[in-house]
Amino acid sequence: MLDHNYDGIRELDNALPPWWKYGFYFTIVVAFIYLLNFHVMGLGKNPTEEYNAEMESARIQKERFEASNKDKIDENKVPMADAAGIKAGQAMFEANCAACHLKDGGGNVGPNLTDDYWLHKGSLNDIFHTIKAGYPDKGMQSWSGKFSPKEISYLASFVKSLHGTKPAAPKPQQGEFWVENLAGDSAALAKPKPDSGVVAKPDSVGIKK
Ligand code: HEC
Repeated sequence: MLDHNYDGIRELDNALPPWWKYGFYFTIVVAFIYLLNFHVMGLGKNPTEEYNAEMESARIQKERFEASNKDKIDENKVPMADAAGIKAGQAMFEANCAACHLKDGGGNVGPNLTDDYWLHKGSLNDIFHTIKAGYPDKGMQSWSGKFSPKEISYLASFVKSLHGTKPAAPKPQQGEFWVENLAGDSAALAKPKPDSGVVAKPDSVGIKK
C-alpha cells in the first residue's frame, strides 16, 4: 500500500509482471541498436535510400536485358521486315493509319507516303522515328504507346514498301525531295527539284468522304 491518500482513496504498490518489465527493457535495448544502426553508424538504409538502391538495380537489370535482347529496335538501326513482317505492318496500317493516309498510302489528312517527297525524310530509320514519336502538333500522333518497337518496324517497313507504288488518288507532294543515300541513312538530301517544296493546295488537304 502506497502512503498517499486522496480523499480516502489509497493505491496498491503492485510489482509489474516480469514478462512485461523485461519486454519493456528489451524495447529500450532494441531502440538503442536501431539508433546506432540507422542514425549513428549509417549501416541501415532508410526508405529513400532503399528506393534508390532498388531503382538502380532495376536500371542495371534493364540495361542487361536490353543489351542481350536481339529484338531491340530503335531509330538508329531499324531492320527492314521480311514479307511476313510487311504483311503484319500492312494489317496494322489499314486498321490504324488508313483513315489519314489511305489504304494505299496515297494520303488524305496525312501526306502521301508513296512519293519522293517527305516532310520528315524517308529512310526506314526516319519513318520509324516519325511513327514512334509522331508530330502531335501537326496531327500525327506518337504510336509508341500502342505499338512495340518491333511492330513499329513492321509499320515502317510497310510504309517503305509503298514507295513508288501508284495510289488511286495521290495527294500532291509535301515536304522535300528525298533520296536514300548509299549508306541508307538520311544524312544526305538530294538536290531539290525546281518544283520541290510545293505544299498541297488547300482544297486537297480536306478529308475525303
Ligand atoms: C489522325 C490522322 C493520322 C493518322 C491516324 C496517322 N497519321 Fe501519319 N501523319 C498525319 C499527318 C497530319 C502527318 C503530317 C505531319 C506533319 O505535317 O509534320 C503524318 C505524317 C506521317 C509520316 C511522315 C510523312 C512524311 O512526309 O515525312 C509517316 C511516315 C506517317 N505519318 C505514318 C503513319 C502511320 C504508320 C500511321 C499509323 C500507325 C499514321 N501515320 C497514322 C496524320 C495521321
